[in-house]
Amino acid sequence: MTEQRLWQKDVAPDERLDRFTAGNDRVLDNELAVHDVLGSIAHATMLHRCGLLDDAEARAVLGGLRTILAEVRAGTFTVGAGVEDIHSQVEIVLTERIGEAGKKLHTARSRNDQVLLDIKLYTRHRLARTVAGMQRLFGLLLDRSERFRDVPMPGYTHGQIAMPSTFGLWAAAHAESLADDLELVLAAYRIADRNPLGSAAGFGSSFPIDRLLTTELLGFSGPNVNVVYAQLTRGRTERATLTALAAVASSLARLAADAVLYLGGEHGFFRLPEDLTTGSSIMPHKKNPDGFELVRAQCNLLQGLPNALALVLANLTTGYHRDLQVTKELLFPAFTKLDDCLDILCLLLERLDVRTDILDDPKYAYLFTVDAVHSLVLQGLPFREAYRIVGRAVAVGTFERPAGQAHTHLGSAGDLRNDLIAERFAALRDAFGFERAEAALAALEHG
Ligand code: ARG
Repeated sequence: MTEQRLWQKDVAPDERLDRFTAGNDRVLDNELAVHDVLGSIAHATMLHRCGLLDDAEARAVLGGLRTILAEVRAGTFTVGAGVEDIHSQVEIVLTERIGEAGKKLHTARSRNDQVLLDIKLYTRHRLARTVAGMQRLFGLLLDRSERFRDVPMPGYTHGQIAMPSTFGLWAAAHAESLADDLELVLAAYRIADRNPLGSAAGFGSSFPIDRLLTTELLGFSGPNVNVVYAQLTRGRTERATLTALAAVASSLARLAADAVLYLGGEHGFFRLPEDLTTGSSIMPHKKNPDGFELVRAQCNLLQGLPNALALVLANLTTGYHRDLQVTKELLFPAFTKLDDCLDILCLLLERLDVRTDILDDPKYAYLFTVDAVHSLVLQGLPFREAYRIVGRAVAVGTFERPAGQAHTHLGSAGDLRNDLIAERFAALRDAFGFERAEAALAALEHG
C-alpha cells in the first residue's frame, strides 16, 4: 500500500514511476534516521524561538521527535513499506501521534535542505568512526615498527633488490601514509561541518528564521552562508568525503599488496597464524592470504568512487536535482567497506609474524652495493670513482657483501623518529573537534 505522498495534491503518482524514483531510499534512508530527527529537533527549537511554533506546539513536536528518536535507537522505527523516504516517515508518524502541530514542523524548510543536513550530520558521524579505525591501525603499525624496529628486510625499486631496509621502516611508512590521509579526512570533515539548514529549496525563505541558532544547536563550526551555495554542497560534501576515503583506501591497498607479496613462498618475509589464512579445495598445502587480498580489491574499488560520483554530478546546474539522490548509493556503503578493511587489517597485523633472518640468504648481497660504495667514499675516493669500482666487482662476480653500515639520519632505519609521526597524527586527530559535535547532539537528544 502506497501512503499518500507529502507533496501529493489531487493526482496520485503513477505507481511504477513512484517505485523507480524512490529507488533505494527506503533502505538507505534508515541510516539517516537518527540525523533526520536530530535535525528536526534543532529546526523545531529554532521555529519556537522565532515565534513560528507556540509553547504547546513546540512541546508536542519536541516530545514526539524525542520519542521517535528513542525508537530509532531501539531499532523499532524504520521507513514503512509504502512510504517514500525517511523525511516522510518521520513527519507522517509525528503527525499521526501529535496531530496538527506535526504539520507545522516543515515550516521554513524543504526536503532539499533537510536531506542536505542529514547527509552532513551523517558524514560527520561516519567520519568520526573511520578516524577511530585509522587511529587503531596507525597505533598498531607504529607499535609493530617499534617492536620489530631492527629486523632487516630487503628494499626494492623497480621490483628488484635495491637497498637494505627494516621492518621498522616498512611499518612506520604505512603509518605515516595514514597521517597524510588524515589531512584529507580532516578537510572533508570541515567541509561537512557547516550548516546548510535554512537554505530550504535552495533559495532561503521569507520567514525570519535564525540560521545561526540551528548552527549552534547542531554543533556545526559555522553555516554555509549563501543559501544557493548551501544547496551546491550536496554532492560536493560527498565528493570531498569519497576523495578522502579513497586516499585512505590507497594506503591500505598498498599495505595489503606488500603483505600478499611478502607472505608468498618466494619471499616468505611474513607469516600468518593458520586461523588467519584460508585453505584450498584442491591443494592441501595452501595457506592463502585472502584477508589481505580482499582488502586490496575492496580498497582498489573504493578508489574509483570519486570518479563515479564526479560522473553523477557532471553537468548539473545550480540548484537541486533529483540526480543527487544517487550520491547516497555511492557514499553510504563506502564508509562501511573502508571501516571493515581497517578492522581486518588490525586483526591481521596484530598477529603477523616477521622473519628475522631474511638477509642471511646470499641472494640479498647486492642490497649492500651502495654501502660498499660509501665505505670507499669515506676512505677518500670520489663517489663516481667508487661507484665504478663496485660496479666492476658486481659485473665480474667478485662483489662481496661488506659489513652493513648504520643509517643514522632522520627517518632512516637507525633513527625512525616514530615519535614525530605520532605527534603529527595526534595533532590532526585533535583538530576535528568531534567532542563539540557530540556534546551538541547529545543535548538535542536529551533535551
Ligand atoms: N530522496 C531525495 C534525495 O535524496 C530527497 C529530497 C527530495 N527532494 C525533492 N525535491 N524531490 O535527494
